[in-house]
Amino acid sequence: MCGIVGVLGHNQAAPLLVEALKRLEYRGYDSAGVATVQDGHLDRRRAMGKLVNLSDLLVENPLAGKAGIGHTRWATHGVPSVSNAHPHQAGPVAVVHNGIIENFRALRAELIADGANFESETDTETIAQLCARELRAGATPVEAARRTIARLEGAFALCFLFDGHDDLLIAARKGSPLAIGHGDGEMFVGSDALALHPMTDRITYLEEGDWAVVTRAGVQVFDARDTEVLRPETHARIDGTQIGKGGHRHFMAKEIAEQPSVISDVLGHYTKTGTRIDMPAELPDFAQIDRLILVACGTAFYACQTAKYWFEQLTGLPVDIDIASEFRYRSPPIGPRTAALFVSQSGETADTLAALRYCAGKADHILSICNVPQSSIARESTVALPTLAGVEIGVASTKAFTCQLTVLALLALHAARQRGHCDDATLAEHLTALRGLPGLLNLALGQEAEIETVSRELAEARDILFLGRGAMYPIALEGALKLKEISYIHAEGYASGELKHGPIALVDPAVPVIVFAPTDPLFDKTVSNMQEVMARQGKVLLVSDATGLDTAGPGSWATIQMPHVSPFLAPILYAIPAQLLAYHTAVAKGTDVDQPRNLAKSVTVE
Ligand code: AGP
Repeated sequence: MCGIVGVLGHNQAAPLLVEALKRLEYRGYDSAGVATVQDGHLDRRRAMGKLVNLSDLLVENPLAGKAGIGHTRWATHGVPSVSNAHPHQAGPVAVVHNGIIENFRALRAELIADGANFESETDTETIAQLCARELRAGATPVEAARRTIARLEGAFALCFLFDGHDDLLIAARKGSPLAIGHGDGEMFVGSDALALHPMTDRITYLEEGDWAVVTRAGVQVFDARDTEVLRPETHARIDGTQIGKGGHRHFMAKEIAEQPSVISDVLGHYTKTGTRIDMPAELPDFAQIDRLILVACGTAFYACQTAKYWFEQLTGLPVDIDIASEFRYRSPPIGPRTAALFVSQSGETADTLAALRYCAGKADHILSICNVPQSSIARESTVALPTLAGVEIGVASTKAFTCQLTVLALLALHAARQRGHCDDATLAEHLTALRGLPGLLNLALGQEAEIETVSRELAEARDILFLGRGAMYPIALEGALKLKEISYIHAEGYASGELKHGPIALVDPAVPVIVFAPTDPLFDKTVSNMQEVMARQGKVLLVSDATGLDTAGPGSWATIQMPHVSPFLAPILYAIPAQLLAYHTAVAKGTDVDQPRNLAKSVTVE
């Protein structure tokens, strides 16, 4: 949700802080700021909007100092403004924060009663004011920070910087990730290893409840009971080339184009010989499972909704799905022989993490599919299956989604084998189809020019409907989400069969209706629904294969041809036109494709 960074270096900190914040900007970009200590004096610069505005400010009004902290914000409490921008400072202490302090109002009232003057509307300023009060009471910076952290409720990753101390950072983690970077006589703090990659790949991840005293000599980590603990130093494997746009206009375009290769990586990882599925031995025996729960948010939830069809049809296993923000408060009963699976690109989505923690101790197995191996959700699972999509920077999830689907399809086949629902011949047939998937994805990407053309007309629409049946219904939902989150056009996805129960009233010549209809067993039913739309002058864009377009294409406003694909894998393939339609519509509208308004890549608050 926000990105934080800290530097205790040999060189000027401000340029390093800004470079690290560039790698965190996908987490939020409402405002940005840095603070440094120079000759013992704490000072800061803050700017509204994108990081480039802070960079411009630092050119006009440089900030010296080799110790510093930085922040890029996604607003939770308080509108995006300079006064609400981090770092927040109270007297001799500045702090940057990712998360939400849930008891900040009570703390704010307490501090105001003590005479504190607040300059912002944020929960974060409360942290700085609390720490300043402890310093005034005579506490050392370390003790003042420790006492402050102990008063905070909610989710936070923090980093403190103190006036008069150019070799000290205090970091803390509770509910939001935080990494400590080890340099050569330098030390760093960051929301993730990606941010610290330009400085170091030697990373110590703080655990839940940890706080740390960082100096250039190293780091002391203390757990929630203030007991000093040792956390391992790991080597973060980040390929620097993954950070650039690779010649594409946007990260989203690059990540859409990467899908054939990253899906190949997923297949190579989970089907090493191509004739069997290689899953971790720690996975439960699905023959001993009576219920599977799939929980996620947003696009990751649509991957779960697709997987429900696969698991139930392939394995005969009852599957419950829910969005995490509802699941965590529903208090769902969880009986024996239950596995709960959490899907998350970032592995830090607060609602999904909370849902996982609800299931811990209740479900027999806590499984996850995450794209960030060291993330909270991956670390708190008994078995974490890697998504292997590589770094995904575009806020709109694309390659992570199709990789999630591929891992889920493989897991469903694995479970079907264990439950005796999939014989050798059927498995071989599905694995052959999967091996052909990267090639089909390339063919689908080959339709980009046609999609770009039709997207220019979609960009004029005020409302757009997406239809799909069976496992294509979640793809209709995903298509609608992709479109609205980056083009800002209102879009809704519907089960084709549901349209006539009310939503068909929305159909008129100004409302494009995009129909995902591969020639699968439900094709004819979907075509019937499509014809109900056309009978009402509906503007149908039919996405199907050659056979489908020959059969049902006449009379459509437009068509997009997909290669023929097995019904089992059609949801993965049809994610490509869904993504490209959204991308090119947004480009035609001129919106900020990689960093759409109001959004952030990782929603680490409720
Ligand atoms: C997807 O395009 C959205 N940015 C959003 O719905 C996202 O999928 C959701 O926030 C879940 O994120 P996660 O996969 O990191 O948990």
